[in-house]
Amino acid sequence: MLSDLKDKRALVTGAAQGLGRAVAELFIERGARVVLSDIDGDLLDKTVADLGDAAFGVVCNVTSEEQVVSSIQAAVDHLGGLDIVVNNAGIEIGKPLVQQTEEEFDRVMSINVKGVFFGIKHATPALIASGGGNIVNMSSVAGLGGVPLLGSYCASKAAVLRMTETAAVELRDHGVRVNAVCPSFINTKMVERLVNPFEGATGAKFDDVVAVKQQRLGTPEEVAEMVAFLASDDAKFVTGSHYVLDSGLTGSLF
Ligand SMILES: NC(=O)c1ccc[n+]([C@@H]2O[C@H](COP(=O)([O-])OP(=O)(O)OC[C@H]3O[C@@H](n4cnc5c(N)ncnc54)[C@H](O)[C@@H]3O)[C@@H](O)[C@H]2O)c1
Repeated sequence: MLSDLKDKRALVTGAAQGLGRAVAELFIERGARVVLSDIDGDLLDKTVADLGDAAFGVVCNVTSEEQVVSSIQAAVDHLGGLDIVVNNAGIEIGKPLVQQTEEEFDRVMSINVKGVFFGIKHATPALIASGGGNIVNMSSVAGLGGVPLLGSYCASKAAVLRMTETAAVELRDHGVRVNAVCPSFINTKMVERLVNPFEGATGAKFDDVVAVKQQRLGTPEEVAEMVAFLASDDAKFVTGSHYVLDSGLTGSLF
């Protein structure tokens, strides 16, 4: 079977919808039991109910160190240990960089960077206790280069890549792998939210730009497949790396 996750115990943050939900769903399909965490408790409850008995929900705001610690403990208690953590929760601010407020900049950094830092820091002891597991961080092609209207987001996703590499080297001797994925535009609420600001600021049709740059929107399931591979033992020699899913966007100058 592709990316077998039989009996693996996983925690996925920001999992009530979008990429996190798709990751949790695929992990369960591949045999894992999954704790889904999210700041949106109502949506989380619905998602967990949809995913069935292998899913369990914990409300957690990843910017709160206390909540991250207790969500990881809840996952360990519920699953009997932890093998995989997917630090997926993230937000965007779609505005020219010089128009972004300090509060907006801090919010992006707090969720996208500090949230991943807390996830790595506090999950590591549980992963080591389970014999060495792995972490997959959700970066973006926006972590590889600048994107108009996504200045703070780009900075945050670049920071995720540098933390991924550093943690991978620091944790290698403990048997913990740390990798990241860099998707381009994927069909989720996040991208829906970006269409109006993008078209307002550039005058270009968002769909046309997507068609030229990446042919079509990616699907959450396509991203989940890469995350499942990295989380599985098939990727046991893979750490400190990032994997791009962008249908050629970053490979082309035009
Ligand atoms: N959709 C894309 O095109 C795309 C591309 C590259 C990377 N990403 C990244 O993938 C991740 C998921 O994005 P998505 O498109 O599924 O977004 P989404 O907005 O559809 O879902 C994000 C989820 O994160 C949760 N969340 C937000 N703030 C949180 C917090 N403080 N604590 C816990 N949960 C919180 C939300 O409630 C939501 O359920 C993000 O890190 C995003 O930056 C998305």
